Amino acid sequence: MLDIKDITVKYGKNTKATIEHFSLHMDSGEIVSIVGESGSGKTTVIRAVLGLLPGGGEVTEGDIVFEGKSLLANSKKEWLDLRGSQISMIFQDSGAMINPIRKIGGQYTDYIRTHKKMSKQEAWNLACRMLERMRLPSAENVMKSYPFQLSGGMRQRVGIAMAMTFEPKLLLADEPTSALDVTTQAQIVRQMMELRDEFKTSIIIVTHNIGVAAYMGDKIIVMQNGAVVDAGDRDKILHHADSEYTKKLIAAVPTLEGFRYV
Ligand SMILES: Nc1ncnc2c1ncn2[C@@H]1O[C@H](COP(=O)(O)OP(=O)(O)OP(=O)(O)O)[C@@H](O)[C@H]1O
Ligand SMILES: [Mg+2]
Repeated sequence: MLDIKDITVKYGKNTKATIEHFSLHMDSGEIVSIVGESGSGKTTVIRAVLGLLPGGGEVTEGDIVFEGKSLLANSKKEWLDLRGSQISMIFQDSGAMINPIRKIGGQYTDYIRTHKKMSKQEAWNLACRMLERMRLPSAENVMKSYPFQLSGGMRQRVGIAMAMTFEPKLLLADEPTSALDVTTQAQIVRQMMELRDEFKTSIIIVTHNIGVAAYMGDKIIVMQNGAVVDAGDRDKILHHADSEYTKKLIAAVPTLEGFRYV
């Protein structure tokens, strides 16, 4: 489904590489957690997959292959067809997705209609169905609300609903629960896992919380300073990590709803 093959990412031509020798093979319906401290390059990796590296960022070596086709040579048009429909992304607080001064309904239906030919009413109905699937109470009310009228957890569910509208094969989630309290965080984590069960969505979840990484991930990748220090199946990483860094992270694991999942 997704193959990241030994990529190097640089911001600017003659600078030191930000990411070096990053590889990842992912199958359909698999969840991969990427964990690591601030600045380790987690966001850079998933932005590279989505073709959205900011500020002169570029994959200078290696390849990223999605469904048998390299993404690096994609034209603008090909990206427009892929993003939102085949590969989509959710953000830390949905801030990058949701406009704070417009009601949810207007922006959600616009979002749907930029991707698919549909009447306003059809788009509205589809949006409501997706919100209900995310277990938002009273989808119609949410649609008629401004973002600030919703709680952080509700806004994040709206963000996930939008990202899942076209049942993407790959969902990239950059710290989707970091802005939330622990209980809401646990709910969102469970909901993302249900998406995988229901839609067979593959998910890359970026987090600095090894508890979340361990709970969700079939595979875990641990990064430090742009390099992978540990990678493999969940149980291998949790019980037989190679690096001292990973061992320390696991020893300091936080809890979810009072349970220690590691
Ligand atoms: N727009 C940019 N221009 C230049 N360099 C950048 C840019 N974005 C990131 N970098 C470089 O890439 C490194 C990794 O950044 P990245 O955002 O991928 O880390 P991260 O692991 O997601 O951190 P955080 O947990 O804080 O989100 C940074 O330390 C910085 O040196
Ligand atoms: Mg980041």
